[in-house]
Amino acid sequence: MSNELDSFKEIISHCKEYGYVFPSSEIYDGLAAVYDYGPYGAELKKNIRDYWWQAMVLINDDVVGIDAAIFMNPKTWKASGHVDNFNDPMIDNKDSKKRYRADVLIEDYIEKYRQKIDKEVAKGIKRFGENFDEAQFRATNPNVLRTQQKIDEVESRFKEAINSGNLADVKQLIVDLEIACPESGSKNWTDVRQFNLMFSTQMGSVADDSGVIYLRPETAQGIFVNFLNVQKSARRKVPFGIAQTGKAFRNEIVARQFLFRMKEFEQMEMQFFVRPGTEMEWYEHWKQKRMNWHLSLGLNKDKYRFHNHVNLAHYANAAVDIEYNFPIGFKEVEGIHSRTDFDLKRHEQESGRKLRYFDPEINESYVPYVVETSIGLDRMFLLILSNAYTVEQLEQDGKTSERTVLKIPPVLAPVKLAILSLVKKDGLDEKAMQIFNDLRFDFACQYDEKDAIGRRYRRQDAIGTPYCITIDYDTITDNSVTVRYRDSMEQKRVKIDELRAEMQAELNVSKLLRNL
Ligand code: GAP
Repeated sequence: MSNELDSFKEIISHCKEYGYVFPSSEIYDGLAAVYDYGPYGAELKKNIRDYWWQAMVLINDDVVGIDAAIFMNPKTWKASGHVDNFNDPMIDNKDSKKRYRADVLIEDYIEKYRQKIDKEVAKGIKRFGENFDEAQFRATNPNVLRTQQKIDEVESRFKEAINSGNLADVKQLIVDLEIACPESGSKNWTDVRQFNLMFSTQMGSVADDSGVIYLRPETAQGIFVNFLNVQKSARRKVPFGIAQTGKAFRNEIVARQFLFRMKEFEQMEMQFFVRPGTEMEWYEHWKQKRMNWHLSLGLNKDKYRFHNHVNLAHYANAAVDIEYNFPIGFKEVEGIHSRTDFDLKRHEQESGRKLRYFDPEINESYVPYVVETSIGLDRMFLLILSNAYTVEQLEQDGKTSERTVLKIPPVLAPVKLAILSLVKKDGLDEKAMQIFNDLRFDFACQYDEKDAIGRRYRRQDAIGTPYCITIDYDTITDNSVTVRYRDSMEQKRVKIDELRAEMQAELNVSKLLRNL
């Protein structure tokens, strides 16, 4: 684990050095759990957002997009349950004075047992190879069964305590499991308390309670309150979905988790409105569809898993997380929730307005059920970088060297092509500039002529540029360039006339979208 944590620290410092992510207001010592995106970070973030939008809105006839305001009438949050229920159970360690989420302490405890099972499974795979039946092994191996029983017991105690609101039992569970403060190792805990995560501010000039408004803690409510506006104006029939991306804010208590848990972050959410009784079909549909989206980017399949919620949110009747094995362990990157008709019904009650759909197929009016897909853009960004960050040892001419490379999926890379002139003379630089000025209208390109070519390749590796195009002396005579591939470091000659088509084929987003 410590190696993995070291790699997490390396990713954070790489992000800063190469203009991906900076601590917010760093010259004033920063602000906890708030970050700024630098030039490459902003591009990568935009590319992830675009790929999500294309996959959700562009290619789905039954999904439309909106862009709702961050500020909403505060009654929205009363209706949604966030004012009363959007709490995290917090516990403080009396010795280290550090504050933790009690549920996270317990989940981390459970995760260690899950890893124990994974290790047993890995041993089995190693021993029996292709003949290994993992499902049977998990169902029969005594060590696995014992560990699983322990997990089930802890989960069941936690679920009972949290669902009944019994915070004393949550604390007792932490004490019984002998969970220690990750910082100090101390087991000297305070009681568990609920802590509301919403940020509030004041609207208008009078600073009294009547002007209190909230920074939205999720983008979803902007979709719910617009359900009928969109359904009518876009002339949609249920089932259909509304998607949006945008900032959300939560007063998270965090301990050095970088982009994983931020106070200001961006969500990409879609609410799919369905006829009551059909929600579980759609839940399964979107669960698979969203996993396919992740895998379409060529990310490591073994690092993904589904994880059913133990502790359902106040609005859900089923919920699953898509988890990724980050350097800090398996963690949620996206949630798929069957939110019932909870939100629309609550908004009907609070606003006094009907939020119903007349379904001509069954001649009935109803409040639709909702299946939600919700992914954090910043968390997806961290996932891409965790998957991409690689330090490789290279052997060349009997010499060993090291390169740090970001193997970002090419379609998401901030810079797609680096145009490099081998030397800055003899007309090579002019030729390179000509190619750059031609290709920049189709691809995110960077022109670089400073330093030796090897150093320039390393620089591009470090920012994750998938293709370097080098203009050398042969270019003048054969009208070809060398294309160097980031991941394999292979090189091939390509005619300048064919370069655009070749690169378009390599960076073909529509091919990925068609396979979704
Ligand atoms: N509308 C449902 C909803 O907001 P959630 O599980 O609380 O559900 C959805 O959040 C996603 O938003 C998470 O899977 C995660 O990717 C992202 N997210 C939530 N809190 C976050 C935070 N503090 N920092 C970064 N991303 C966060």
